[in-house]
Amino acid sequence: MQMRWLSAFMLLAGTGVFSGAVFAAGDPEAGKSQAVVCAACHGQDGASPIDPSYAVLAGQNEKYLLRQLQMFQSGTRYAPLMVGQLNAKSEQDLADLAAYYASLPAKVAQADADDETLARAEAIYRGGILSKKVAACTACHSPTGGGNAPAGFPRIGGQSAPYTVSQLTAYREGQRKTDETFGAMMRGVASRLTDTEIEALAAYLQGLY
Ligand code: HEC
Ligand code: HEC
Repeated sequence: MQMRWLSAFMLLAGTGVFSGAVFAAGDPEAGKSQAVVCAACHGQDGASPIDPSYAVLAGQNEKYLLRQLQMFQSGTRYAPLMVGQLNAKSEQDLADLAAYYASLPAKVAQADADDETLARAEAIYRGGILSKKVAACTACHSPTGGGNAPAGFPRIGGQSAPYTVSQLTAYREGQRKTDETFGAMMRGVASRLTDTEIEALAAYLQGLY
């Protein structure tokens, strides 16, 4: 990604230009009762998915979660196991679910790779890859991996590694297009990452907080 473009993007992110769809205030209590069925895959605490390729949701920011739920519902984002999960849910229901998962404490797991791999991943996370014009992940996901809640940039620290691998690969292959609002930026970032780099980043992120 061009660095000049990145600065312009960060400026816009700061001003809330990317607020996207209407942001209804969610009620975590109302979300909690709806989330009983979600626990079957995402875990009781939203942080211990039943299968590591299912996403950790606890502590994710509300704005990001709401956008993803809206996109699953409209079919803009596709995942076989999420199909039908949000049928008949109103916009308020989605906002309540987003508020509920955002209210749960985020957890971290262990980074899962050898030291050399983790050092390589950390270098990419903090400094990008200059020769390939890959921007530093910290710029948008924060040094601790906590994301940027006002801008709706997701928390990626503590996320389960197999899920992160699948998402970075899906962006790279152009299968995940949910970053359209953001000028396809994650497709741009991921398009220059190798499988080895993606695996290293995912192992590192799992333990980042
Ligand atoms: C049958 C299993 C299953 C159930 C039940 C389920 N999910 Fe999911 N969910 C998944 C999988 C698998 C993914 C990862 C999708 C992918 O790979 O793109 C996912 C992804 C998500 C994401 C995206 C997370 C991110 O970081 O982008 C959200 C949000 C989500 N689910 C919310 C819910 C909610 C809310 C419910 C209940 C109403 C629910 N899910 C029920 C399997 C499930
Ligand atoms: C200029 C800002 C920016 C930079 C730089 C950036 N990201 Fe992102 N990232 C985003 C945004 C915005 C999203 C959400 C896009 C969407 O809705 O699909 C995202 C989504 C993601 C997701 C999906 C999260 C989930 O829960 O499904 C992962 C994983 C991710 N980024 C990893 C990275 C890594 C690793 C790097 C560095 C190599 C990086 N990002 C660099 C802005 C950025």
